[in-house]
Formats: sequence, structure tokens, C-alpha cells
Amino acid sequence: MKLRSIELELPDIASATTFMREVWGLYDSTPALSNIGGSNTSYLRGTGELPYLWSMREAASPSVRSVSFSGTAAELEAVSARVVASGMAAPRREDYADEPGGGHGFSIRGFEGQPYRFITGDARVQAMPMQDDKPIELSHVVFNTQDRAGAMAWVRDVLGFTLSDETRIMSFLRCDEIHHAIAVADAKSVGLNHVAFDMRDTDAVMKGAGRLRDHGHDIAWGPGRHGPGNNVFSYFVTPFGATIEYTAEVQRVDANYRTGRPEDWTWPPRRNDHWGIAVRDNARLHDAEKTFGFKAAA
Ligand SMILES: [Fe+2]
Repeated sequence: MKLRSIELELPDIASATTFMREVWGLYDSTPALSNIGGSNTSYLRGTGELPYLWSMREAASPSVRSVSFSGTAAELEAVSARVVASGMAAPRREDYADEPGGGHGFSIRGFEGQPYRFITGDARVQAMPMQDDKPIELSHVVFNTQDRAGAMAWVRDVLGFTLSDETRIMSFLRCDEIHHAIAVADAKSVGLNHVAFDMRDTDAVMKGAGRLRDHGHDIAWGPGRHGPGNNVFSYFVTPFGATIEYTAEVQRVDANYRTGRPEDWTWPPRRNDHWGIAVRDNARLHDAEKTFGFKAAA
């Protein structure tokens, strides 16, 4: 199982698409634009093999439509079986032929309505040459939660993910060897906390951050190196309100990884990462986290 893409709704996808392509560094997918149910939807890819990472559908207000994982038919069946065992209705099969990569699968709602989607049979595309300042694929998605213990247990027990680490305010879960694909963070309301894009290395994170600054976008948090996952980071708030992160060197773990507890992740006063130099604009980040809630279930 692998984190594949995120699907958003928001007003003025034309300007948001231009930002994600020209400033953030994504590329048009094939197709780059489609009209689904009468709404324009744009698709953007990274330099890796995934058909798209980031999609935006024109809508009156911002929301997260889904966070999508790609897996084998057997992996999807296992998730579906756990969904049923948890007492929820069996997920209905959906076809995604009108999206780049196609495939089929199902959508389910998490503990507080977090919209997850599982896809199999989706195509891969030709990777682009590695570039030192462009995103390769998604690294992780973080949701805000009002009940972290419940949200964490749902992802672990129903989706079948593995808890990698817990801090005083966050829980990190994995679905493959990457330290975390999903994390849940304590907050006053549920919604999207941020989305991270994987870069080639630390230099790529820095060069990407430099491009953002060239375009007039200051770093909202970073540069730094996180505790859990040990990944390098720089966070930005996009003009359309989503918080996104360049990251690199995230830790690979296996079954021998010892799940960390809050007492394993403490810093000296004022410090919020391994390096101790990251500046964090708390007010701006907390404000941005209120932008993308979850679209009501259809
Ligand atoms: Fe992150």
C-alpha cells in the first residue's frame, strides 16, 4: 500500500493550478484538465511514476475530497474486510476511468469523516529525470483531529496501518516502509493540517524553498529536521490557503522499529526540531489549518 494522491475542491482552480505548477514545481498530468460532473478538475504530477499527486476541482468553498492510496487487489480487500468487521457498511466499488491513471476501488470515511480512497489497477507513467528542486511524489498527509486516540486507533485498526511514533501532540502511522504516510494532530477542529511532497535530498528542499522565496512566499516553518521520521522540512502556506511541505530523507522503518512515545520526543525550551534553528509562524499555520475541511459524504 502506498500514499498516492490528494483530491481537493476549491474556488479558482486556474490560479491555484498555476501556483502549484509554476511555483511549487509540479507538472501537468495527462489529461491535465477534465470536466467531471460539470466541474473542471485539474491534475498535477511530480517527477516520479505516479499519474498524478494533486487534483483540484472547481467548487464554491475549499474542502478535501479524498486522500488516495494505491495498493494490490488483495490489500484493498483486506481494508474492505476490516471496514465491514468494524461495523461499517461494505464499501461500494467505484471506477476511476476518467482520472489520470484510471483504476478502481472504494472510498470510506474515517473516524471524524476523514475521506480516504483506495485504488487498485491504476497505471504508472514514465518517470521524469530526477531534478534537484522539484517534488517527486507525496510523502505524507496530516489531518487535524479532536480525538487523537480515536483517530489513531481507527487508522491502525480499520485501515491496518502501523503506529510508528507518538509525540505530545501527534500520532504517525505508516502503510509501507516510509515512517509515516498519515499523521493525526491535536486540534480544536477537524480538517487538513498539511500535505508533504518528497524531494530528492536536503539540497532539493533548500532549492525548492529558494524558488518559493523568489516568488515572494516566505517559509512558514523551517528549514529544519523533524523528530519522528527524521525528515528535513520547509513549510509554506499557499495563496489558496493549504499548507504544503517540501521534505526529504524521511526515515525508512521495518517491523523492528520501536514505536516512540511522547517521552522519547522532547526538546529544550523554544526548540521544535533536531537542528534548533527552524522559525515557525504559529499564527499563520493555525489560520491556514482552518481552510480545508472535509466535504460532506455524498
Ligand atoms: Fe509534515
